[in-house]
Amino acid sequence: MYKLLDGKSLANKLKEELKEEISHYLKKGLRKPSLAVILVGENPASKIYVRKKEESCEYVGINSISYHLPEDTTEKQLLKLINELNNRDDVDGILVQLPLPEHINTKKIINSINPQKDVDGFHPLNVGKLATGIDEGVIPCTPLGIWIMLKHYDIEIFKKNVVIVGTSNIVGKPMGLIFLKNEEATITYCHKNTKNLKEHTKSADILIVAVGKPKLITEDMVKEGVVVVDVGINRLQNGKIVGDVDFDNVKNKAYAITPVPGGVGPLTVVSLLINTVSVYREKNGLGRHPLTII
Ligand code: GUN
Repeated sequence: MYKLLDGKSLANKLKEELKEEISHYLKKGLRKPSLAVILVGENPASKIYVRKKEESCEYVGINSISYHLPEDTTEKQLLKLINELNNRDDVDGILVQLPLPEHINTKKIINSINPQKDVDGFHPLNVGKLATGIDEGVIPCTPLGIWIMLKHYDIEIFKKNVVIVGTSNIVGKPMGLIFLKNEEATITYCHKNTKNLKEHTKSADILIVAVGKPKLITEDMVKEGVVVVDVGINRLQNGKIVGDVDFDNVKNKAYAITPVPGGVGPLTVVSLLINTVSVYREKNGLGRHPLTII
């Protein structure tokens, strides 16, 4: 019988702990941590994600400051807002929801965020810190959430073959860097030009899939005892939300597997809260949050 990696209940447990931690800071006389969330335009999925992030902030006691800007916001206007938030002492974290409308240069926007307030961990300085291990930066939320989940469920990582399908800057690439950090696991990155994907996925002890294609991974593509982490969120025509893995069939071969929904998604949100508390802690001389130390 497979083990279900229940992200939802773990996220709820972590939220209770964060709530408690934040109330402790308030009792010591510190102000609430605060996160500025910027959404540009009307992307329906982004609107849902942003609402979840804001609600979770409020729940644990993080002050969320929302900016919902119209689709035709100019790059200059957005840069001006970020500059103001960079300079505000009462703003600990800044999150710009992606994707941005096409007329805005995403790279320029990410580069403009103060790396110490970059709770997404997308700024090149934070990416570079993770890649080199020279210093501890902010780790992107989805891979951090997956790492926290694997640790929580005691999934062994040492000397394992980790195969990552999908190499986005948001999930795949930083995920591999986390596993690589202590030279514990061996990493294989697969992407749209990988020849014979199955050959690679079959070798995986831990398989992470973040592509956005329903049933990309089928039962014949995994080995017995695999740990499967499904990052995909796909809406089918009938309205059902599914991941990238054919869960119903793959689960029978798995040692452990994440469901969709209720797997990685809730941990991404909770990692944003953890990163926000972590930058707040650093600012207040309390050091990084222990869950962000990999
Ligand atoms: N869009 C999809 N995932 C993310 C994320 O983790 N952060 C931001 N800012 N935008 C996203």
